[in-house]
Amino acid sequence: MIEIAVLPDAEAVGARAADIFDRAVQSGVRTLGLATGSSTDPVYAELTRRHGGRRNLYRTMQLFQLDEYIGLPVEHPERYLEVIRRSFAGPLGVPISRVQAPDAEGADPNLAGTSFELSIANAGGIDLQLLGVGANGHIAFNEPGTPFDSRTRAVELAGQTRRDNARFFKGDLDAVPRRAMSQGIATILSARRILLVAIGQAKSAPVAALVRTPPTPDLPVSALHDHPAVTMLVDLDAASGI
Ligand code: GLP
Repeated sequence: MIEIAVLPDAEAVGARAADIFDRAVQSGVRTLGLATGSSTDPVYAELTRRHGGRRNLYRTMQLFQLDEYIGLPVEHPERYLEVIRRSFAGPLGVPISRVQAPDAEGADPNLAGTSFELSIANAGGIDLQLLGVGANGHIAFNEPGTPFDSRTRAVELAGQTRRDNARFFKGDLDAVPRRAMSQGIATILSARRILLVAIGQAKSAPVAALVRTPPTPDLPVSALHDHPAVTMLVDLDAASGI
């Protein structure tokens, strides 16, 4: 079931999402799934404002990434591990050793996918998964057409996704990787609770489609209809097509 809250702006989305995170962490949640992209920025900014530089419960969390680009140098600022370090782990004092990402540089992506799934299972599963949505309805890097039973594996990025993400690479499309390791849709659905944030006009189409469309692989985010505990926070712009 998807519960939708329409909020005035990005800051309000960040504040509401931070409330949900804080309540979950206070109630004993141990494992968090983290997303990257601009929609999650207000969430991490608010958590940093509330807890950054202080003793806080996040320091002992086990963190799992949704995805990771293949082929970026280790020190590249857009490597998602680096983004998570900069925006969440660093400010909240979580040691980087507690952040797990699928190995995007190993020789065998199948092995990397299986071993990431095992790490999640060994941690007892993901209690709360934060998600964004791509303009084409992707979640993590599961592009339209991805089977709902998919697990962590190597994927090709859609042309639209690479064009959308070029803004993180100084607008240079050639610098955007063509492949990534991504949690599968079944991996995402196995989280106990999912929090989806969507901000801005560019998200009005996937948000409206999600509300209208029963689950179909053509719209990966529609898989969330099959999950028992999804909260979706959208700002007025992202809600404008509903
Ligand atoms: C990327 C990420 C997704 C994210 C999406 C939307 O492609 N792999 O996890 O949800 O972008 O990002 P943004 O919030 O920047 O629009």
